[in-house]
Amino acid sequence: MEELVERIRAVGKVLPGNVLKVDAFLNHQVDPALMQRIGEEFASRFKNAGVTKIWTVESSGIAPALMTGLALGVPVIFARKHKSVTLKDDLYTAEVYSYTKKVANKISIAKQYVAPDEKVLIIDDFLANGQAVNGLLEIAHQAGVQVVGAGIVIEKAFQPGHQELEAKGIPVVALAKIKSLSNGKVEFEDEEEQ
Ligand code: G4P
Ligand code: NA
Ligand code: NA
Repeated sequence: MEELVERIRAVGKVLPGNVLKVDAFLNHQVDPALMQRIGEEFASRFKNAGVTKIWTVESSGIAPALMTGLALGVPVIFARKHKSVTLKDDLYTAEVYSYTKKVANKISIAKQYVAPDEKVLIIDDFLANGQAVNGLLEIAHQAGVQVVGAGIVIEKAFQPGHQELEAKGIPVVALAKIKSLSNGKVEFEDEEEQ
């Protein structure tokens, strides 16, 4: 998505440890008009998938997920993160390890909002190691619902998340694919692959 790539070029900052900081429009301050166009792009890419619900994880997935839900006319669930181990009967729960933050979180979704015939589209801000998406897949497995795809705003193509998801048969659509963040420079995959 050209507009997104241009925005990353304009305001993205590379931090040590191969981290791309996009607090200017996605992870802290949010640009609603850009998020809306991102949502419309995901909606058009998944329009024939029969999506009945969007799943994401709080907090940074919520903005693009919400706009995708709006464009597709379906509800959005954000899985909640919590560090406590308390298991509750009314929740589906999975473990998510964050490599960047070096913490393990549990994420959960209330059973009340999951229907058995659900077709879920996962949306997230970043795909790196795929831990967040894997946690949602684990919950979908517990709930016995189908995941029809994953829509990712920014993919770090040099990390293994994308390949692992495709190996599980999950179609992945990423709107900006980053080949490298080496030497403080953002390098995208070829234009035609964006
Ligand atoms: P993974 O889900 O792909 O495995 O991500 P990973 O464990 O590597 O990263 C953990 C957190 O860091 C996730 O956010 C993920 O979206 C984010 N992240 C990973 N790489 C980058 C990056 O280069 N730049 C930015 N800005 N974020 C990155 P989270 O813990 O779920 O936090 P939240 O922001 O959603 O609250
Ligand atoms: Na994040
Ligand atoms: Na996220």
